[in-house]
Amino acid sequence: MRINKYIACAGVASRRKADELIANGNVRVNGLVLREPGYDVVEGDIVEVNGRRIETSEKKVYILLNKPTGYVTTVSDDRERDTVMDLVADVDARIFPVGRLDYNTSGMLIMTNDGDFAYKLTHPKHEMPKTYRALVSGVLSDEKCGRLERGVDIGGFRTSPAKVKIVRGLSNATLVDITIHEGKNRQVRKMFRAVGNPVKQLQRIAIGDIRLGRLAEGHYRKLTREEIEYLKRR
Ligand code: URA
Repeated sequence: MRINKYIACAGVASRRKADELIANGNVRVNGLVLREPGYDVVEGDIVEVNGRRIETSEKKVYILLNKPTGYVTTVSDDRERDTVMDLVADVDARIFPVGRLDYNTSGMLIMTNDGDFAYKLTHPKHEMPKTYRALVSGVLSDEKCGRLERGVDIGGFRTSPAKVKIVRGLSNATLVDITIHEGKNRQVRKMFRAVGNPVKQLQRIAIGDIRLGRLAEGHYRKLTREEIEYLKRR
C-alpha cells in the first residue's frame, strides 16, 4: 500500500496531509526518514510519524459532534485556544475533524480516524451539500434570495447555485437556511455580506441528508451504519 494511503488508513491524517508530513520529513520507515513520496509499504515495515509507530489495524470510528462557537477545528492550536479535540477527549481512537467550521460557527462536524473517508468527503468533486442556518442582519428580500441562489461574487469567485429558505423574519434580522455545494473559506459569511446582510450567527444543521437534530451543543454521537454507508456512497 502506498505510504500516504497507509498513513490515512492508520487514522493519522488525510492522504493530502500525509503527503505534507512526508515532504516535511516527519515520516520514517524502518528508522530512516522517508524521501520517496510514492513508497509502497510492505509487510514488516515499521512506519513512524513524528516519532510514533503507526499501524493500520485501528477500528474505524465515525462521530458527529455539535461544535459550539469558541472552538477551533484543528487537532492542536498554537495560540492555545480550545479545540474540537477537547470535546471528544474520551473517544478511544485518534480521530480528527473532517473539513472545518469557523471559530464562531457552531453545529455539525464529522470526526473520524478513517483518512480515506475524510479525503472523499472533503474532495470538491463529491460536492456534498451542506446546510447552514444563519441569522443575518436586516431584511433578506426575495431579490437578494434570488441572487444568493443563482450565485454571487465573493471576491474573485462566483458561487454555484444554492438553495435559500427563509425560516423567519425578525424585526431587524432574518433567520434563513442556505444549502451550498462548495466549501470556500468563510463562504456563507461572504455570500451574505455580498448581498448586504452580514451574518450574526451561523450554525451548520445538515451534511447531505444527515441532520444535526436535537444533539446538544458540545455533545457528540456515533454515526449510524446507514449514515456511514450513505456518506461513503456519495
Ligand atoms: N461558511 C462560513 O462562512 N463559515 C463556516 O464555518 C462554514 C461555512
